[in-house]
Amino acid sequence: MKQKSILGLIRCTLYGKNGMDEFRFIERSGSNAEKYTLRQRLFGTETVQPMWVADMDIATPECVIHAVQERLLHHPILGYEIMSDSAYEAQIGWMREHHGFEIKREWLSYFPSVVASIGCAIRALSEEGDEVIVMDPVYPPFYSMVRDNNRHLILHPLKQDDEGIYRFDINALASQITPKTKLLLLCSPHNPIGRVWSRDELNALGALCLEHNIRIISDEIHSDIVFEPHRHLPIAALSEELLENTITLLGPGKTFNMAGFSISTVCIPSETLREAYDKERHRVHFGDGAVLSHVAFEAAYTAGKSWHTKLVEHLSANIKIIETWCEAHPRIKFRPPEATYLAWLDCKSLGLGDRELREFFVCKAGLGLSPGLSFGKEGSGFMRLNFAVPAFVLTEALDRLDRALND
Ligand SMILES: Cc1ncc(COP(=O)(O)O)c(C=O)c1O
Repeated sequence: MKQKSILGLIRCTLYGKNGMDEFRFIERSGSNAEKYTLRQRLFGTETVQPMWVADMDIATPECVIHAVQERLLHHPILGYEIMSDSAYEAQIGWMREHHGFEIKREWLSYFPSVVASIGCAIRALSEEGDEVIVMDPVYPPFYSMVRDNNRHLILHPLKQDDEGIYRFDINALASQITPKTKLLLLCSPHNPIGRVWSRDELNALGALCLEHNIRIISDEIHSDIVFEPHRHLPIAALSEELLENTITLLGPGKTFNMAGFSISTVCIPSETLREAYDKERHRVHFGDGAVLSHVAFEAAYTAGKSWHTKLVEHLSANIKIIETWCEAHPRIKFRPPEATYLAWLDCKSLGLGDRELREFFVCKAGLGLSPGLSFGKEGSGFMRLNFAVPAFVLTEALDRLDRALND
């Protein structure tokens, strides 16, 4: 670590750095953490508390760190390696236990990133000029992957119902479909709105896609961070037809805070779709990935369960902190997410334009959040706050916001 802020040192001393608390504070500024290093470029200052990019300011599980250390200690050769069947089986076991999704080994293959596999799947399953359905607001690379691969976006706005729950409108969506519409990019659970799509919603979407011969690319990277009483349902698991019609993108990056290992998997039950995808995959020649990522992946899915249970408890407690705070600050509306560690804050009552809203958060509150507009037109007036932090960091951030609002 090149530099350590004084604040960081004080926090380490006050809140412990000796591994007693899994969700302890760890100073990340001065490391190459994207969330911290890009502050100057994104927010014009190094002083904001960064709560934007979706990784956690929480240590990766001990079982992962230990497995990597052991591999380095006991086998000091880092040549080409393939991802072992036991690594895939670890993920298959996790998916069976946590999501009731029975995956066959041959359906799975490695890819370095979920976003990269979205691009690969788009190229494999559609032609230039074809249309791809994307719901707005959504994780920004959903838009760029479609545009950068010379396909057309069909934007379907998600709207809040009377209870503030985001919904798609299946009839309106049906009317947007043309003979050129070939793909639906589904975010399930959905970033940034935190929805866990219900069985009825997924069945309706699935039926529409089957009726119009539209393939589904379902990004399920957030599927393990789900809060009671919600349950994630992989759309591919709903019927034989949907199994054959869907490419599901999975990965341990969010679940175990190991995005830096660049490892994910693509699940393609249909032989025809798999062939098309593999052809595209071979063009970019990513091979089978990195030795230490394989080790980390297997360790996480094999031994990460108790850590994951505690993580979800910790994040639930953080949601309560935000809820309580928002009750006392009704100008910022918050509906607890059903999944993800991202709070989608409705700041419209502040009466600021999107530029002023962002400036307010950066300059007045000292907070680096993701502006709602970066997730699409429907995100106007919102800010996305990443609450995967130790509880006191969240409280400090909300205190800053409180002072800015009172100023
Ligand atoms: C919905 C969604 N998909 C994919 C990613 C990134 O995945 P990867 O780092 O594997 O490309 C993110 C990260 O925030 C995400 O929210």
